[in-house]
Amino acid sequence: MRERADTLGDPDHAIDLAIFGALGDLAQRKLLPALYQLDREGLLPAETRIMGLARHDHDASSFQNQVSNTLRARVKSEEQDEKTLTRFLYRLDYLKLDFTKPEGFTAIRRWREGSPRPMVVYLSVGAKLYGDICRHLGESGSVGEADRVVVEKPIGFDLDSSEAINDAIGSVFPESRIYRIDHYLGKETVQNLIALRFANPLFGTQWNQNHISHVEITVAEKVGIEGRWGYFDEAGQLRDMVQNHLLQLLCLIAMDPPSNLDADAIRDEKVKVLKALKPFTGEALGRDVVRGQYIAGTTDGQPVPGYLEEESANAQSQTETFVAMKTEVANWRWAGVPFYLRTGKRMPEKLSQIVIHFRQQPHYIFDPDQRDLAANKLIIRLQPEEGMALQVLTKDSGLDKGMRLRPGPLHLDFNSAFPKSRIPDAYERLLLEVMKGQQYLFVRRDEVEHAWRWCDRLIDGWQSRETPPRRYPAGSWGPVASIAMITQDGRSWYEDY
Ligand code: BG6
Repeated sequence: MRERADTLGDPDHAIDLAIFGALGDLAQRKLLPALYQLDREGLLPAETRIMGLARHDHDASSFQNQVSNTLRARVKSEEQDEKTLTRFLYRLDYLKLDFTKPEGFTAIRRWREGSPRPMVVYLSVGAKLYGDICRHLGESGSVGEADRVVVEKPIGFDLDSSEAINDAIGSVFPESRIYRIDHYLGKETVQNLIALRFANPLFGTQWNQNHISHVEITVAEKVGIEGRWGYFDEAGQLRDMVQNHLLQLLCLIAMDPPSNLDADAIRDEKVKVLKALKPFTGEALGRDVVRGQYIAGTTDGQPVPGYLEEESANAQSQTETFVAMKTEVANWRWAGVPFYLRTGKRMPEKLSQIVIHFRQQPHYIFDPDQRDLAANKLIIRLQPEEGMALQVLTKDSGLDKGMRLRPGPLHLDFNSAFPKSRIPDAYERLLLEVMKGQQYLFVRRDEVEHAWRWCDRLIDGWQSRETPPRRYPAGSWGPVASIAMITQDGRSWYEDY
């Protein structure tokens, strides 16, 4: 039944991959399909093998059947290929294990015995289990000198809890072998921010407060809580999205050029941005931050419940499902340039987009009525339809138009510009980098901790003010106050949905 892979991938990147929580949502929805795609692309070395670990009763063969069903359901039919599927399933093994107990971890050591490959431990489980698993792995002698660990966000709930988790992981794995995932860093367009900024001299010279008036980052989701009420209600949108994804995007936009593409060179620059983020204090807290919570509304014309009416909701919850804020990176490059951030659940669309607003010309010679138009914008669309558009001004055509201006995009749509290349899922890129042992797309401990320090101050401020979140109907762009926040600066959120 099984066919063995022969010459696939770089044998130097072969690993023994142990996925803790292999039957969970993340592993089934993202990790196993991503590994299958890597195999299909010929990027999974022949020797790579995968052990699924979970508490449920399975053996290798029933686990393989289960994964086969998952892949058939999740992978697009045109990307399903029987030969790859058979080869991929052949790599899978299964170990039933209670992660909280030390007994059983020696089976992992036995699985590794004699293997020349590094083990990658993927913790696809809640962060509460990270400490136990790492300790048991260490005590059972399963972790060798080249082994790596991959962990998912959220790393903790605040600075203190993240330090405790990082200490527990760090007592078994050194920082150079810890891969903290922020899946936004695996998105193709997010990596393109590095290419855009540092490969194009055009932008290199313009990327500062002399030329940029303000920056918008929007990460809007159409979905609500999707059965995750318990987790989400403890976290809220600030911890769930801003502390990680939005701050990472902000860092990539705001950082200084690293001296090379090494992981630490990039991460050193990101940390400088996080340290320079202005805290929200006093008046700024009420003026520059808006928290929202969705009430019943409509999505795609269908009625949807409010946050407090979702399944297993606590009707008293004050947790935010939306945050908008105006922040600043207090350094020479960015002093005085507002960064407007907003993110929310149950918005009208799924949209992740960064808009760089350039300053106007110092002297304006066209129609005074059009003055507000006269600035360039760079729109970077992360999802859906990845692409970039530089909005430039041209003359409106027509004999009657004189020198009237017309804004229009210089447009790069990745799907049509590069039609043959499939845009890989973020997890494919991230897993590939783990296999290669490259950390530049992963978050270093000090990044996580500086991000928490900044968020903790904001949350403390909210708690001391005890202001409830503002309501917004599902299917809208958030509370009216988030529009007023930017309007009071004479600006508006970029709209071209
Ligand atoms: C996760 C959050 O990190 O990112 C979720 O926990 C959110 O709440 C998700 O829905 C969004 O990711 P993406 O890739 O769909 O934008």
